[in-house]
Amino acid sequence: MFTIQPVIKWSGSKRSQAAAITQYIPNFNRYYEPFVGGGSIAYAISPDKGLCGDIYEPLINLWRLIQSGYETLLEQYRLHWDRLQNEGYLVFYEIREKYNKNQNPADLFFLSRTCVNGLIRFNKNGEFNNSLHHTRKGIDPMRLKSIMANWSERLQGVEFQSGDYWETTQNVRKGDFVYLDPPYFHTKGRYFGTIDFERFTDYLVWLNKKNVNYALSFDGIRGETDYMIELPKELYKRHLMLSSGNSSFKKVMDKKNETVYESLYLNY
Ligand SMILES: C[S@@+](CC[C@H](N)C(=O)[O-])C[C@H]1O[C@@H](n2cnc3c(N)ncnc32)[C@H](O)[C@@H]1O
Repeated sequence: MFTIQPVIKWSGSKRSQAAAITQYIPNFNRYYEPFVGGGSIAYAISPDKGLCGDIYEPLINLWRLIQSGYETLLEQYRLHWDRLQNEGYLVFYEIREKYNKNQNPADLFFLSRTCVNGLIRFNKNGEFNNSLHHTRKGIDPMRLKSIMANWSERLQGVEFQSGDYWETTQNVRKGDFVYLDPPYFHTKGRYFGTIDFERFTDYLVWLNKKNVNYALSFDGIRGETDYMIELPKELYKRHLMLSSGNSSFKKVMDKKNETVYESLYLNY
């Protein structure tokens, strides 16, 4: 099975489903991923021509550094990481505070690799508020180098742009492909930005009118709990349920493992 070593850890990562999702992706001219987050599907596809976006601008700045300047980023990570090992947990909180003032992408990177379960979470003022993962050291910079080099290489064909999903895909044409992974509608507050259901379904109508193929990860079932949201049937042609192993979010909450199924809607 194809496993992805994450570079940026991000909430809602599709890493565990990437192999299953990419099986359903048809040929395309240009690849679009307007809710890129931790980028696992873009990585798995490694398109020759792609445009990836996210509403969270510091994340896009970080992607640009990974793509083109990972040596500097690695050096900054190494400095923070060494301090964390030598001086202890207060270093994490110092960098978190600094990050919430100046949004330096290298600090965001360090936080994503050292916070509890790599879950990037914001409070209602848009400040990053997860804590240090006390029982883990954060990835050793020596190991990180080859991971960064690999991601950088696989993303060479991708342009990164910050902004709203509709804006990122405004120039899509027939023959292009769009992978959509919006925040779950029930996870308001855990991600940066929220999306409006009606506007989102209007957007799917717009993609259909343009004859653009899309795959949408949208809702799911987690253990006993059903998070399915009714998507109007005329918007898609196929609906698949993919198993995504155990939920790390749930594990954090009550230490139990639950099987998670996430749905994938295809309009082709
Ligand atoms: C479920 S995550 C994507 C995870 C990604 N597929 C991965 O494997 O890591 C959803 C992303 O949508 C972004 N987002 C939220 N509202 C948005 C909007 N209106 N336009 C674009 N991106 C948005 C969030 O910042 C978050 O990174």
